[in-house]
Amino acid sequence: MTAVAINHWPDYQKRWAFNGTSEEAAVFSGGNVGYEARMQHDFMIAQGLRPTHSFLDYGCGALRGTVRLVDYLEDGNFNGSDISVGLLKEAMLECVRLKSKHIPILQLMDSFEVADQYDYILCNSVTVHVHPDDIQDLCKALSKALKTTGKCYVSIHPLDETEQQESRWDGYRWWYKRSWFAKEAAKGQLNISDMPGRTPNRVPGQRHPVIPYVNTNMTEWMMEGTL
Ligand SMILES: C[S@@+](CC[C@H](N)C(=O)[O-])C[C@H]1O[C@@H](n2cnc3c(N)ncnc32)[C@H](O)[C@@H]1O
Repeated sequence: MTAVAINHWPDYQKRWAFNGTSEEAAVFSGGNVGYEARMQHDFMIAQGLRPTHSFLDYGCGALRGTVRLVDYLEDGNFNGSDISVGLLKEAMLECVRLKSKHIPILQLMDSFEVADQYDYILCNSVTVHVHPDDIQDLCKALSKALKTTGKCYVSIHPLDETEQQESRWDGYRWWYKRSWFAKEAAKGQLNISDMPGRTPNRVPGQRHPVIPYVNTNMTEWMMEGTL
């Protein structure tokens, strides 16, 4: 019998269809809006993102975390991609509300591949919603979207390395072993490794954050990818 690959895209698109209010969009994208906006902005600048760099927020949603980078970057350098047309619409409305001087370039995705190549890519809180058998394709798309010297930052929910299985579905999200994720990424031509650090996760309003320890100021475990 030949194995048939499962196409998860209809599931992803259904899961992320959005037709609510702006307030609901923020909660739908993960909440903690002001906190994420500061942390993701600070994180990218700490990694060396400068106004002249081209940047892609892969799985940008409503720009909950990166809206401040729209004006930080030179006009035309901020790009976002997502599978949800409803969230992309909210992303644009958020820039209008904030009277952003620059206009983000937004792409609606119907596969993991995106247009163009970038100096920096952030893929935050996306892998947690992507099935294990799609991780290789996701990483391949990220590697194709990187310039030769580009860097991407991918967050995961880290499964303890001592666990027997490589991945776990907890009913809402996927947890991945970091070692397994790195192997899948390598198959997709993306060289990815843990960022240094280990500190208790502090998410405002959460006494027991879902991920107890993180390695950076971000609320999920961060890995750095290069070609
Ligand atoms: C938890 S939200 C995070 C959004 C944003 N990165 C942030 O930190 O606010 C997850 C996002 O991933 C997007 N997404 C889910 N599956 C995807 C896929 N297969 N490809 C690209 N984006 C996807 C969703 O539409 C949603 O906007």
